Amino acid sequence: MTQHDETPRGGDTAAPGRPRGLTRRRLLFGGAVAGVGAAAAIGADLAFGRPGQGAGQPPAASDPLTPPPAERLHGGDTVPFHGRHQAGIATEPQAHATFLGLTLHEQSDRAALGRLMRLLSDDAARLTQGVPALADSEPELGLLPARLTVTFGFGPRFVERAGGAAPAGVGPLPAFGIDRLEQAWSGGDLLIQVASDDAFTLAHATRMLLKDTRSFASLAWSQTGFRRARASEASGTTMRNLFGQVDGTVNLEPGTADFDRLVWRAGDAGDAWLADGTTLVLRRIAMNLDTWDQLDRGGREQSMGRFLANGAPLTGAEEHDEPDFEALTPIGFPVIPEFSHMARARPVHPDERLHRRAYNYDTAPTGGSVSNAGLLFASFQADVDAQFVPIQQRLDELDLLNEWTTPIGSAVFAIPPGCAPGGFIGETLLA
Ligand code: HEM
Repeated sequence: MTQHDETPRGGDTAAPGRPRGLTRRRLLFGGAVAGVGAAAAIGADLAFGRPGQGAGQPPAASDPLTPPPAERLHGGDTVPFHGRHQAGIATEPQAHATFLGLTLHEQSDRAALGRLMRLLSDDAARLTQGVPALADSEPELGLLPARLTVTFGFGPRFVERAGGAAPAGVGPLPAFGIDRLEQAWSGGDLLIQVASDDAFTLAHATRMLLKDTRSFASLAWSQTGFRRARASEASGTTMRNLFGQVDGTVNLEPGTADFDRLVWRAGDAGDAWLADGTTLVLRRIAMNLDTWDQLDRGGREQSMGRFLANGAPLTGAEEHDEPDFEALTPIGFPVIPEFSHMARARPVHPDERLHRRAYNYDTAPTGGSVSNAGLLFASFQADVDAQFVPIQQRLDELDLLNEWTTPIGSAVFAIPPGCAPGGFIGETLLA
């Protein structure tokens, strides 16, 4: 999915046929910039070359696109925006992600939603390819996508406003006993998931997209999360959460038949507009690191059923070893406690599986604590009721991990399919 652009960046990258007399530097600094259109034009130019760099001239020393010899830079890496499915789901998770939940203005009717989604799709298509947004006020910041993806989702009110009926499972989840939900992190009519390997890119793209929404919706919440920085460890390494656990070992893997069947909605699943789309469950789960610290390593491993060192099941040696739930200790207890998170979360039915794509969060501690952290649990599945809810119900009934975790936010969105160039996300519902 990811396209790695290995083209050397040091040479003259001006687009063929571009007049050299009117350099972008002159446009930028010569006072010729007036209004959004000019800025957009400059932005588009900047995507193909750099200010003031002509044929035969060495690039400026501070040029961020010119790597020192042998250094492989990732800023120019792109993930296609257009396609059958939206990006940011099967995409190998980027290092940073922001989830935005928006509330539609009362006057945003079906026609307005069509305009909004056209605008957002257009800017998302640009930014993800390293082209500044149409009305980009800082076009230089739109040039390094670093695998930027933008994924849109619709809450029940959006779907209804658009003239459809929310698919089963898209709406508030059943009430769970462990939930301590806060309105500040819950619900939402429109979701924008923005993810990139570069936190700077993420900040700029997020702001550009939010600007597009101003006449149509207001921001209800924004949740930002992180994983390890790109290239800190080999790509494909399972992420760790802030408990130190290897998190994501047993997961539906993109590119497999199971992923295609259990993540993407089939055309005959009802709600034809959602075919090739999916659903997202986003749960903000606080993790009490202060009390977790009081538990010894053995206790931590028992609560999960896996070793902390490498994520191997307590009955195995390697991360992906199959756990043996029948194995007993010398005194007759299960080696993997039956109420461990792994034992309780394990699907009892092969179709009850998810694609988890979580991010860690860490915000300012309050009230004398030294942490205020947790997990932005994000799972994609074709059917919320058949895949997510039964697992969450079992965890709600009993899961040793509940001692240290508390769901404080919850939102579910329908994720429409992708679109072709010239189309827009949501066209199957709004066009
Ligand atoms: C802060 C909350 C949570 C933490 C820290 C956490 C952590 C983990 C870890 C470390 C594993 C074992 C490694 C792996 O297979 O990924 C795991 C497995 C799993 N978790 Fe969670 N999890 C949390 C919440 C949830 C929630 C809310 C759900 C779904 C309702 C869930 C579903 C699963 C599933 C399906 C597995 C794989 C079980 C298997 O088949 O072995 N987890 N989780």
